[in-house]
Amino acid sequence: KILILDFGGQYSQLIARRVREFNVYSVIRGHDIELEEIKKIDPAAIIFSGGPDSVTAPKAPGVDQGVFELGIPILGICYGMQLMAQLLEAGQVEKAEHGEYGKANLELFTQKKLFKEIDNYSQVWMSHGDHVKKVPAGFEIIAKTELTEAAAMADFERDFYGVQFHPEVNHTIHGKTILHNFLFRIVKVKANWNMSDYINEEVERIRSQVGTGKVICGLSGGVDSAVASAIVHKAIGDQLTCIFVDHGLLRKGEAEQVKRTFGEEFNIPLIYVDAKKRFLDRLAGVKDPEEKRKIIGDEFIQVFDEEAETLSDVRYLVQGTIYSDVIESGGTDKAATIKSHHNVGGLPEEMNLELVEPLHFLFKDEVRKIGEVLGLPEEIVWRQPFPGPGLAIRIIGDVDWDKLETLRNADAIVQEEIRDAGLYRDIWQSFAVLPDLRSVGVMGDERTYGYPIILRAVNSDDAMTADWARLPYELMQSISNRIVNQVEEVNRVVYDITSKPPGTIEWE
Ligand code: XMP
Repeated sequence: KILILDFGGQYSQLIARRVREFNVYSVIRGHDIELEEIKKIDPAAIIFSGGPDSVTAPKAPGVDQGVFELGIPILGICYGMQLMAQLLEAGQVEKAEHGEYGKANLELFTQKKLFKEIDNYSQVWMSHGDHVKKVPAGFEIIAKTELTEAAAMADFERDFYGVQFHPEVNHTIHGKTILHNFLFRIVKVKANWNMSDYINEEVERIRSQVGTGKVICGLSGGVDSAVASAIVHKAIGDQLTCIFVDHGLLRKGEAEQVKRTFGEEFNIPLIYVDAKKRFLDRLAGVKDPEEKRKIIGDEFIQVFDEEAETLSDVRYLVQGTIYSDVIESGGTDKAATIKSHHNVGGLPEEMNLELVEPLHFLFKDEVRKIGEVLGLPEEIVWRQPFPGPGLAIRIIGDVDWDKLETLRNADAIVQEEIRDAGLYRDIWQSFAVLPDLRSVGVMGDERTYGYPIILRAVNSDDAMTADWARLPYELMQSISNRIVNQVEEVNRVVYDITSKPPGTIEWE
């Protein structure tokens, strides 16, 4: 297995993910792990991650010098490379006159080992203020960029390598090949690890975490909470109880889907709470989007709390937190609140439960893979992201049951058509919005005065930015025809052609 030592870089988990992609087992540990621990792990190689500090600073994160005596290959990335230069004999790191951030052109001096089959010139991704001024004894410089003389270094004898750029990010064109070379040409690991192994390890970890304790989870219908619950159930069976709060703001058929999959097929003890009326009563007449979100968030926690109290000695709560949530919540401290996000299944803070987070280090597509391995249905595993406050923020203005039904029916047609066109998995989100206005139309010689439905479909990688999807005209035509003909109260369909920014994906 590969040991990744984390120096606090924002891409440490991405390195682990790349290694997993090659079907190689990896573990991540903090840089201050003791040498004895490392020996117990017995890694085939170590990768040092990047990190935000300067290795020349007095309290810079370091590593036990003994790692260099283990006789195994080491790859240092960014800060990791600088740390090698700092710690090994005769190396030197200094603050660069100009930092180097973003794309850079890498020029190779050799195509040996690490750079086998890499083009002599290629784009890499840089993000550093310091640089290696002098490579340590036994090393040679193996690549440069315009701004950085030692963009990569190697000691081919000991198989120690340092790269100033980030091979783990997609912007480094040959990044995957470089990591592949390190793993399979230099370390010579076997690709014999897969997602079932991940599940088994996680099952063991959960068992030792919770022992015989009782665990609850909140299901929302989304892929993350579903996969998290399924793994935990595999680990501890009926020590787990799931609570599903039906706030009435879900799409057509979603509540039934959750009940069927978890209650019946997976046989997980499931408390289904029909809280539709409670939510609708509290939402009645409320028009302001933030107010709506706040009410739904509050009410959700109240209902969840009440139900959890009916169970005795619950000590753990399953959260479907995935890695990108972790990055986002760390990164949004300074960012202005555009919309306050509420996650169904969010932790009621007073409950004082210990968290069980089996997906904490995984990326979305890995979560989906695990969901498939666990046998969750396609509709759940491949569900597009859906906001916690549900259809309430897709109905502009106040929410009532009739509007919810109108939107649900229109939205069901959108989903069906997008799926039939084979586009559901490719499109980030596709849905219908019901605005608070009416327009005049004509149907069968009669004047109509009804709602329009706004069709929204976007492409995105991470929801931070998005562009409207170029749907085929025929598809738009059949969506429009079907909605106007089949959904009462609706007499017009329009398509939202706004990117994010300046728009947001949702309308509220
Ligand atoms: P916006 O509308 O801000 O949405 O471009 C970005 C992504 O977040 C989803 N979204 C939410 N998800 N609770 C959630 O769990 C929320 O309150 C919420 N608001 C928006 C939205 O669907 C999109 O994927």
